[in-house]
Amino acid sequence: MKPVRKAVFPVAGFGTRFLPATKSVPKELLPVVDRPLIQYAVDEALAAGIEQMIFVTGRSKHAIEDYFDRAFEVESDLLSKEKFDLLEALSGTRLAPGQAAFVRQQEMAGLGHAVWCARHLVGDEPFAVLLADELLWNPASPCLRQMRETYDAKGGNVIAVLEVPEAHTQRYGIVDPGRVEGAVTEVKAVVEKPRAGTAPSRLAAVGRYILQPEVMRILDAGERGAGGEIQLTDAMAKLIGRQPFHAQTFAGVRYDCGDKLGFLQANIALALERPDMGPHLREWLGTI
Ligand code: G1P
Repeated sequence: MKPVRKAVFPVAGFGTRFLPATKSVPKELLPVVDRPLIQYAVDEALAAGIEQMIFVTGRSKHAIEDYFDRAFEVESDLLSKEKFDLLEALSGTRLAPGQAAFVRQQEMAGLGHAVWCARHLVGDEPFAVLLADELLWNPASPCLRQMRETYDAKGGNVIAVLEVPEAHTQRYGIVDPGRVEGAVTEVKAVVEKPRAGTAPSRLAAVGRYILQPEVMRILDAGERGAGGEIQLTDAMAKLIGRQPFHAQTFAGVRYDCGDKLGFLQANIALALERPDMGPHLREWLGTI
């Protein structure tokens, strides 16, 4: 079984739900406490042993490329002032030479299309996909690492899922579940944003995937699905039956940072966990 060495980060989206903040700042660079969303996703990938990060960017997203580069002026300034703690804060932004690759998605034609834009860089090996606006929080056992353990045991394709309220199923890719073994559920089918009342379960895909490269061959066809977009879910659905396909129920907390309320909740929850600010924040929250 080939190891998962590469991860694709689709980061071309306009982030319209956060306008005007995202007019000139990519939504993936919005901070949760003091780290941008994309940093959490990259850290999660690194913790799962991913070696190569492939960012699918778009126009006006070049700040993401800069973020993962050296910041010569500020770094030399901090070094000369011996501000080593601040230099340390930049450590996660320093990917090794050649470890980050950037490819552009020229049109917003859907998640499947974004992933397909990375096909030449992915090549003929399994790969992960991480959606940075889904902050999946479990520092002791990050989501992609949980999925990787399942992949190492079962091979094929693994997607992360969580139970969502029935009324929310129409916002997600929803799994039709088969046999359940602890946190791992066999996937019989997946359907993108099912109409109200038609969802096969409440198990929703939450933005983490380990996929076999054959999914790219399916995406080659450019078939449009829900919302007139080229859907990753539809391409995945065609792999089921041909290859093992499992859903991993994520053990941890999910913050939907594509949504303003979820983003604020992530900021508050993660700040409360921080020893340097948690106690002060808790005290202040008690006064308002
Ligand atoms: C995408 C996927 C969907 C998944 C969701 C998770 O939808 O198409 O299957 O459940 O991400 O956040 P989007 O939120 O981009 O519409």
